[in-house]
Amino acid sequence: MQLKNHVKAIKGEILVPGDKSVSHRAIMFASIAEGTSTIKGLLKSEDVLATIKAFLEMGIKIEEKDNVFIIEGKGFSGLSQAHKPLDLGNSGTSMRLLSGILATCPFKTVLTGDDSLSNRPMDRIVKPLRQMGLDIAGQGEKHYPPLVINGNTVLRPIHYQLPVASAQVKSALLFAALNTEGNSEIIEKQLTRSHTEEMIKQFGGKLTQKELQITISGIQKLKGSHVNVPGDISSAAFWMVAGLIVDNAHLRLKHVGINPTRTGIIDVIQKMNGKISISKSNNDNTADIVVESSDLVGTMIEGDIIPRLIDELPIIALLATQAKGQTIIRDAQELKVKESNRIALVTEILSSMGANIKATEDGMIINGKTNLHATTVDCKGDHRIGMMTVIASLIVDDGNIELVGHETIATSYPQFFEDLRSIIGE
Ligand code: S3P
Repeated sequence: MQLKNHVKAIKGEILVPGDKSVSHRAIMFASIAEGTSTIKGLLKSEDVLATIKAFLEMGIKIEEKDNVFIIEGKGFSGLSQAHKPLDLGNSGTSMRLLSGILATCPFKTVLTGDDSLSNRPMDRIVKPLRQMGLDIAGQGEKHYPPLVINGNTVLRPIHYQLPVASAQVKSALLFAALNTEGNSEIIEKQLTRSHTEEMIKQFGGKLTQKELQITISGIQKLKGSHVNVPGDISSAAFWMVAGLIVDNAHLRLKHVGINPTRTGIIDVIQKMNGKISISKSNNDNTADIVVESSDLVGTMIEGDIIPRLIDELPIIALLATQAKGQTIIRDAQELKVKESNRIALVTEILSSMGANIKATEDGMIINGKTNLHATTVDCKGDHRIGMMTVIASLIVDDGNIELVGHETIATSYPQFFEDLRSIIGE
């Protein structure tokens, strides 16, 4: 696909689509709770549809009426064995969280995915779930998908210190612990997104948290609830960066979720001198975010902020190419095991456009400000790298970027190109 180059201005408002992490979890909790749940603002992207399809195949009734999803949950024991392997497409969140749910369901399930998901390590969940007594295995030493799970109603509770900062691993263990008799203790390496903990409480469950330690006891029964999904800050991030790096830009991003475990990008933009203002809503954890063209400076991004902006690092790397001075991203080795190796791919793509960027063992070093040039880019099935490339094209003035593989953007943001057209006035 040939991308638009060098736009002269961008203006307007975008109602950012629903948060992907919250959407997956809302479907999961509604399916394992007892009674009816309703979900408003659910993200209807390929990843989330994979989660919905998995629960439909396990016998859960899920309907959509006037943009509200209605789910009839029947408790953990209401899930029935799927007749075929559950295909989770590109979605690591679906595979890892579902493994935690299926752990205590007394039947066999096979979980598969696309090429990208088939190359993502599942050993991070296999190891602790085996510690609980689960029969679970993937392929090879790193337990790549397909994953075979033989669920078991009598697992042992777990005391586990996570070796990686991962909300997916934490959530898988919380799901398994919710339906396992006894007290489990999960200790995070660093604070990661808290949507699972929030939703356990919202669906009537209990847990206690003290800094990095979560204590949860099972067996708990959850009750149907109503979820209002906020806009996804990880999707808004692309427009935040567009609004900062394009000349004559003024964008308002509406109803964006600002759970503090997700707002690292806002802190970084402020440190880089970006013009950004946040107006919080009074009645939920959302805000309208306004960004404008800015003179940016480089910064250091490391340590505990990394899990708070892990999915935004590709677009932050692009932002750094337009900032004066050096930006260093450290402690982000997790980027290597995302939908692609994002350290390698971001560096390769931005270098091919003329940026001064170097990959390191655990991040990137970027020196700005540099002009970016037209070239051909293959985003290799990684939705966020596809969107980063589209935003980069807006400031390229010597031709058009050819993007190979743009279809993957529907993984998390199906209306991305429509929203883009609305702000460039097409
Ligand atoms: C997610 C957690 C993060 C993130 C992913 C969504 C979640 O992954 O990168 O896009 O919804 O829990 P990790 O748990 O691997 O860090």
